[in-house]
Amino acid sequence: MCGIIGYTGKKESAPYLIDGLKALEYRGYDSAGVAVCGADGLRIIKSAGKVAALEIKVKAVSPEGTCGIAHTRWATHGKPTEINSHPHTDCSGEIAVVHNGIIENYLPVKERLEKNGHRFKSETDTEVIAHLLEEKLKNASGDYEKELLKAVAEAAAELSGSYAVAAVWKKAPGTVIGAKKKSPLVAGIGDGENFLGSDVSAFGNHTDKAVYMDDGDIAVIKASGVEIYDKNCAPKKYEISVMEKSGSEAGKNGLEHYMLKEIREQPFTIKSTIESVLADIDSAFGIKTGDLKKIKNIMMVGCGTAYHATATAKYWMEEFTNIPTQAELASEYKYRKAAIPKETLAIFVSQSGETADTVAALEKAKEAGFKTVAICNVYGSTISRISDHTFYTKCGQEISVASTKAFTAQLAALFALSVLIGRAVGFLDEKTEKRLLDELSRIPEAVGEAVKSEGAVKELAERYYRDKSFVFLGRNVNYPIALEGALKLKEITYLQAEGFAAGEIKHGPIALLSVGTPVIALAPGDSLFDKMSNACEEVMARGAEAVAVTDSRGNKALDPKIKNRIVLPDTPEYLAPMVNVVALQLFAYWIARLNGREIDQPRNLAKSVTVE
Ligand code: AGP
Repeated sequence: MCGIIGYTGKKESAPYLIDGLKALEYRGYDSAGVAVCGADGLRIIKSAGKVAALEIKVKAVSPEGTCGIAHTRWATHGKPTEINSHPHTDCSGEIAVVHNGIIENYLPVKERLEKNGHRFKSETDTEVIAHLLEEKLKNASGDYEKELLKAVAEAAAELSGSYAVAAVWKKAPGTVIGAKKKSPLVAGIGDGENFLGSDVSAFGNHTDKAVYMDDGDIAVIKASGVEIYDKNCAPKKYEISVMEKSGSEAGKNGLEHYMLKEIREQPFTIKSTIESVLADIDSAFGIKTGDLKKIKNIMMVGCGTAYHATATAKYWMEEFTNIPTQAELASEYKYRKAAIPKETLAIFVSQSGETADTVAALEKAKEAGFKTVAICNVYGSTISRISDHTFYTKCGQEISVASTKAFTAQLAALFALSVLIGRAVGFLDEKTEKRLLDELSRIPEAVGEAVKSEGAVKELAERYYRDKSFVFLGRNVNYPIALEGALKLKEITYLQAEGFAAGEIKHGPIALLSVGTPVIALAPGDSLFDKMSNACEEVMARGAEAVAVTDSRGNKALDPKIKNRIVLPDTPEYLAPMVNVVALQLFAYWIARLNGREIDQPRNLAKSVTVE
């Protein structure tokens, strides 16, 4: 995680750096800092806390200089204090670096540098990079810019782990240098000014032209242009990508939080995603029909909410294709001695496309020879560039750390993909394919109705927001939705919330219940309604309070004792997750809001988890 921005041009750099940090703050928000390279050398300003706190300090100082780097941090090594915040400097204070990633061998490197007389100020792994550059540059003379490039290449060769680094040096004013390995770094090409960023949002207000760096690349960014070198300092040709304008409007639309705006956007983001798939379903996922026909095994991989999308889609894949399917947590898959079934299609789901665990799992799948397809929301992201094919969900930027609209768009894409595979392998006939896709096309309307349940959900939240522990139950396709409801609640309220397969509670989790514990049961009037109804009876028999998320069919059949209900529109059984989850998102949102939580930037979290 952590966000990096570098600027060099003709204007004062500080406002560009702060602007970039604000756009990157979703990557980490526990401390921030800038280094401005001016006529008198480097001016470093840092602050614990959010970018707003740094901005106040920077405005007070008004550091002068048309070149600089900045960083917003999600702490890995060392507490989020001012001293541990980036930029970090060498002993002389002439070199400053910012870093995203983890330097895994920092301890032996630090020990060696300390023996050579370097004095360290912070507890971070990053500081070794500044001292290593100092060591490499101690005899530099002549062409300082070239010397810096060489020093960065040599330092990079000594470091293991992951890094996106930006550095400035007093002796090479006007130059920002960047290096990348396993953490994202993008150069931005402007008019008389150029940029470096963790992603394009860092400079998206100033240019739409980007150069995506590969592992091992080193970028030299000057006002006059951008140069990319390989790890041996040989110049590389590069391609310039023009960024697509985001479909969703920036800002909160007058609402208090991005999360609420993003929840309410779902009828539109799901619709755009479905339209994008159905415009040409045969080529939407990039896999040729001949290849689809050969699939014998399906594996889907993700983390957190994206994993819950894969866990839901597992039910669809098996029902519509009759092909064995696994939903895998990326962080578990990558270190497991997993089987390598022949003709596996591996599907990687990620909003950001930068999640380190998912990237590592994707690399492992590629080594295994699997065909890979990504479902991502961010154009040009690492996962989209590594996988064989990418389908982009059409959500626009998702800013709130708690993922909502990306999840439902992922579900829409995965549903369509399961139908596509089912038809290709001959398990679904044309009529069924058409019916399923028609039903999918009607989902945005149902989600629109679910969004309107906000008033009823808020009333429930007012009843339960003082509770400390919540249980979510679901079966079949709604089991992963119970997990997702619990994840949403815990990440933005910091309250204990657990999701279970309803049939499992009697095997242990029922012991959690005490008098009044809210149990949110996903109980639409579907084929498993009676089983969910039994689960509600069982929890109520222990004094817990059942809260039913149901539809009109379930509403009629539920035990009148269950007074707390959210009634959502009737949908086909397999598509109910996309509607039900909206109520759970709103429930988490309102419980958090009534508890006065920082909803868009919950404690300890970051939007994009680019470290293991
Ligand atoms: C969701 O609310 C979480 N913030 C988190 O679980 C997230 O879904 C996960 O880190 C995966 O992110 P990705 O979709 O960007 O890969």
